[in-house]
Amino acid sequence: MNDNQERHLVLIGFMGTGKTSAGTRLARELNRSFIDIDQEIEQVSGMSVSEMFRRYGEQRFRSEETLATARLAGQKGLVISTGGGWVLKEENVALLKPVSLIIWLNASPETIYSRVTRKKSIRPLLKNIHNPEELEQMMSVRRSYYQRAADLEIDTGSCGLRQLVHDIAYYMKYGRLPENGQV
Ligand code: S3P
Repeated sequence: MNDNQERHLVLIGFMGTGKTSAGTRLARELNRSFIDIDQEIEQVSGMSVSEMFRRYGEQRFRSEETLATARLAGQKGLVISTGGGWVLKEENVALLKPVSLIIWLNASPETIYSRVTRKKSIRPLLKNIHNPEELEQMMSVRRSYYQRAADLEIDTGSCGLRQLVHDIAYYMKYGRLPENGQV
């Protein structure tokens, strides 16, 4: 598929890298529909992600993630925000990669830690993370997955949301980042 308009724009990256905020704004900017896979799962199942983890475990959540991904693979031109662990299952990436441009939003453990500490209760996997060093251990396991899946990496620690959205929209239009871009 060559037409950028038909491709999904998929945002991947660790928790707290701003996937949902950036996705919401990008969809508006690009005049596309926005889907957040976590929110999709919550709607379909009628329970929050943390409740699903608590009642049925991570495995159930991962299955729901793949079911939602398969539904999206049959559609076109969406902006899709994924959960931080979405890339860990090869099947998810295999479903969307052929029909998407995948952008990895990255940031340092320090930046992410400061962003996520206030909302740790909505992210079950951060329950036992108490400092940036512990967060880095978790991030280091995932980094190669993000790298393999992504067409482009952007450091969100060094730019505001507005700049980020502008740069990605520019990339969608011209196939490269602006001169003052992030990569
Ligand atoms: C997860 C990230 C969360 C959510 C779930 C698991 C992960 O999404 O999917 O709690 O494994 O990193 P966000 O990245 O939007 O916080």
